[in-house]
Amino acid sequence: MLTENYLLPLHVNSTTQIMLKDKIEALKAQIAELKADNEEALEALRIKYLSKKGEVTALFNEFREVAPEEKRELGQRLNELKNLATEKINALREATKQQAKEQNKIDITRPAFPAELGTRHPISVVRKQIIDIFSRLGFTIADGPEVEDDWHVFSALNFAADHPARDMQDTFFIEKNEQDVTRNIVLRSHTSSVQVRTMERQQPPIRIICPGRVYRNEAITARAHCFFHQIEGLYIDKNVTFADLKQVLLHFAKELFGTETEIRLRPSYFPFTEPSAEMDVTCMLCGGKGCGFCKHTGWVEILGCGMVDPAVLEASGIDSTVYSGYAFGLGVERITNLKYMVKDLRMFSENDVRFLDEFKSAH
Ligand code: PHE
Repeated sequence: MLTENYLLPLHVNSTTQIMLKDKIEALKAQIAELKADNEEALEALRIKYLSKKGEVTALFNEFREVAPEEKRELGQRLNELKNLATEKINALREATKQQAKEQNKIDITRPAFPAELGTRHPISVVRKQIIDIFSRLGFTIADGPEVEDDWHVFSALNFAADHPARDMQDTFFIEKNEQDVTRNIVLRSHTSSVQVRTMERQQPPIRIICPGRVYRNEAITARAHCFFHQIEGLYIDKNVTFADLKQVLLHFAKELFGTETEIRLRPSYFPFTEPSAEMDVTCMLCGGKGCGFCKHTGWVEILGCGMVDPAVLEASGIDSTVYSGYAFGLGVERITNLKYMVKDLRMFSENDVRFLDEFKSAH
């Protein structure tokens, strides 16, 4: 009885021992094969084998049941198993880290195309075409501020104090002085202000173009916007005549719209030019025959011009008995509309890439 009682736990122990040995070997084989390709998978493996409730830890619990004489060998095997699992998981961790690093590396051998190229804005394209034409005629570019005082936008250009262009309907005011309009600060409503600044700085000969953005207090529609772009031209020297103006404008129209283009000057009025005119060019759609676009006249208007009023020359310190000059001003949006048949002005400021992409080949 005693022997039997004694043997019983022994028997249990040796069964546990055999089973444990097998389990250790099986786990070893399993662990040797482990794979993980990211941090989460790796953590899952660590939990599965090495955490408190993990499979390796479970075998250590079983080990407590093992007979003392077996403990040495099995203990050794168990420790080997634990080391194996720890090493394997560490090795896998290194490998995933390395892999992540590789993935973050820029592969300089990858082909660079297709790379989306940006396009020039149609307004920039046409502005450049216009500037190039006048540069070839010897005009240089002049610049000035967009926030201007009343003097440079209106007073020096012969606008009477009660001229409607100074009114709220047309002009954006930065500072408005009710008593004295000449003290107003405005967003320039035309680039003619740059004429004045240049004449104040420089004696003739003056031959400049002034490209720039201008602002007018208008409701935004397909045909009007509260800002747009102008290019103003000014030429002052001795003996400058209206014939010079006509010749330059004819050359400009032929360069921009094609050699077949003709021009027509109609009398007009601007406070700062005398005489003044508006210029039409032959309709580029029908070639002058008359169509819906030109309202069956064969002509489309593109700019305003005239001989600089002597009062304007004098206001900027230029002797009008010695010098004369001409000026002209055009809207870049309007010319772009005509060249590319853009019907809605708002397209120019909405940055719709489908619209802008159409100008990929323009330059
Ligand atoms: N500044 C005028 C405008 O904005 C255009 C213009 C310029 C007319 C020069 C004549 C001479 O409408």
